[in-house]
Amino acid sequence: MILVKTIDELQHELSKLGANDSLGFVPTMGALHRGHLSLVEQSVANNTHTVVSVFVNPTQFNDPKDLERYPRTLENDLKLLEPSACNIVFAPSAGEVYPEPDLRKFNFGKLEEVMEGAHRPGHFNGVAQVVSKLFAMVNPDKAYFGLKDFQQLAIIKNMVKQLQLRVEIVPCAIIREESGLAMSSRNELLTAEQRENAKIISETLFKAKELMGQKSVEELVKWVLETINKNPFLNVEYFEIVDDEQLQAIKSWDEKNTKVACVAAFCGKIRLIDNIVLN
Ligand code: PAF
Repeated sequence: MILVKTIDELQHELSKLGANDSLGFVPTMGALHRGHLSLVEQSVANNTHTVVSVFVNPTQFNDPKDLERYPRTLENDLKLLEPSACNIVFAPSAGEVYPEPDLRKFNFGKLEEVMEGAHRPGHFNGVAQVVSKLFAMVNPDKAYFGLKDFQQLAIIKNMVKQLQLRVEIVPCAIIREESGLAMSSRNELLTAEQRENAKIISETLFKAKELMGQKSVEELVKWVLETINKNPFLNVEYFEIVDDEQLQAIKSWDEKNTKVACVAAFCGKIRLIDNIVLN
């Protein structure tokens, strides 16, 4: 495994690949956990070579405090990646990725008007900026993204379509802690007590799936909001049951699409997201 920090070094390494090689790419913001490692495992299993990027992208943080707080643990990330058979770790500086401010404005229509898009203005534009740049630098055959960031995945698929890129986007299952809490770099920022209480988020989603047949959509939404909010450590920012393509809130169980229950909740100052496919 080799660590490179510049685009020139990255491209030098990639130029060693042969015509029959295939390249998998796992973009990350570091603070790696088992969720990231599962993406790397899938990439390693399906490609001859794998690149992992570690870059805390400033343009996708709408809250400067969140950017400041975001854990940066490159040394530990490298230790975790070492046994994974990943070939190249690309950890560029902000100046390397943004030698000039990126003034591009993407338009994702309805997809960005809901949930994360509605509560984190500019977030998905920043994600699209950095992921499109990273795709141009790495030029992968396949790129691996976790389903925990369900809306991000829809945005990235849409961006790939809009830009007519040839990369295949591979969605990967949510990896959970033993308690059920979805793995996230942000979990590291929780105190032991917060972490214990944060598991209520996933517990409530699992229960919601069971209750689906017994309550109307409206009743279930109300039940989830009340159940999570009654925990003194938690405060729901949104809970929505949406269709899996346009990500629009559904009104009735009779609607045909696959339905996904998505939540964002604060545990203290830490914002956590999770989701579950209901049918
Ligand atoms: O999901 C993430 O960690 C980030 O949004 C990504 C895709 C690496 C872009 O910075």
